[in-house]
Amino acid sequence: MATANRGAFSNRLGFILAAAGSAVGLGNIWRFPFEVGLGGGAAFVVMYLLFCFLLCFPVMVTEVAIGRKTQKNAIGAFNGLGFKNWNFVGKIGILAGILILSYYNVIAGWTIGYFIEMVSGNFGISKVFGSYTSDILKVGIYAVIFMSFTSYFVSKGISGGIEKLAKVLMPSLIFMILCVVIYSFTLPNAMEGVKFYLIPDISEMNASVVSGALRQAFFSLSLGMGALITYGSYLSRNDNIVSSSAFITLADVGIAFIAGFMIFPLVAYNNGGDMSMVQSDQAGPGLIFVTLPGIFETLGPGLGAFVGGFFFLLLSFAALTSTVSLLEVPVSYAVDELGMKRQRSVILVAALIFVVGIPSLLGNGASDFFTNWFKMPGGSTDFTTLAILTTDVLLLIGGFCIVLFASYIWRKENLHQELASGYEGYLGSFAHKFLNFTICYLSPILLGLLFVVVFLNNYFGISLI
Ligand code: PFF
Repeated sequence: MATANRGAFSNRLGFILAAAGSAVGLGNIWRFPFEVGLGGGAAFVVMYLLFCFLLCFPVMVTEVAIGRKTQKNAIGAFNGLGFKNWNFVGKIGILAGILILSYYNVIAGWTIGYFIEMVSGNFGISKVFGSYTSDILKVGIYAVIFMSFTSYFVSKGISGGIEKLAKVLMPSLIFMILCVVIYSFTLPNAMEGVKFYLIPDISEMNASVVSGALRQAFFSLSLGMGALITYGSYLSRNDNIVSSSAFITLADVGIAFIAGFMIFPLVAYNNGGDMSMVQSDQAGPGLIFVTLPGIFETLGPGLGAFVGGFFFLLLSFAALTSTVSLLEVPVSYAVDELGMKRQRSVILVAALIFVVGIPSLLGNGASDFFTNWFKMPGGSTDFTTLAILTTDVLLLIGGFCIVLFASYIWRKENLHQELASGYEGYLGSFAHKFLNFTICYLSPILLGLLFVVVFLNNYFGISLI
């Protein structure tokens, strides 16, 4: 059992909802649809699904097992197993967490801002998205508000804060998304959007699609940065890691998939059935903030503002269960390894991350310098670049090292022993064989190869596929 002063999830459901809450976030609802759009539609979706189940699910199981075995944070876990020289993996994870939260908080701030704007009568906010994101006073305040909420729940600890939050917010979010999906299917031309989303065009398959799908799978499942090592460290020995991870993967993939049914029929409706817009400059990070509100407008100003406001409130809830997990990674390190009090470390780490996020805050129109300072092909804003860099480089390296470490350094027998705790009949089962094959062979080999493909494609323009 976790020691009392570290905290623990009160039961398996608490863990599942918190980890699913970490996974389900802006990545599913804000990022997935525009990555699908930019990646050419269904070809991207097929790759994404393959990566989630064959590569990412095994990485998730491994992370949770390492965390539960050691009952330690992302860095301490490697030390706890006696391999101090591998704790660089945890260090990469903490760096990734800080960088991701620095820009994620800005977008999360936009969502809470949309809620506030819509319910206070500014229904047309989506028409002036560009001037909204460059209004530094407004978006700055919203970002401060969001970071404060995140800090509050992390400071309350595991069962009192993070778990309680997820139990209420996750079911409400799913309900709301389903309502919007049903409504968007009733709109004219909806089926053109569905076709774009579901019928793969093999000619669209190239290194950028593969790289986008892999990056999205890692990001969306919160992998490669020790978030699930950290959450796993609060899990009881009696709980089944394999089935919990399967559930989390299914929930995350399911919600992203359903979010596509929400957005693509709407894009088709807004553009008279023409889907080329999602691959143009108008798509990208603004898709959900510009296109989606179109659906609320069709409901008229009163009802539209109500439903739109409610939707963005739920989107901020989804973001909140993810931001708490991002902040928890460095905070648990500070509490476990540096002996700091939880409250104090929350304040210090949150303040640091906010400062790191200032370029992202200014990089969406507020400052010409930060808007243009660092662009990659396809990266229209500073945080798009940061999002790609952190995920492609840090999360992929993290994931690769984690499976390599578990299989060959810590050793697979120990890993399977840990997985067997809480899962009667695991040893010798199909799950055992599948995970042995994927964790020890498939994931390290494919991740290693794909990393080279992605790296050469994104940073040197060399396409191997
Ligand atoms: N999975 C989250 C999302 O899809 O929005 C983002 C995220 C959270 C990434 C936590 C990484 C992480 F450790």
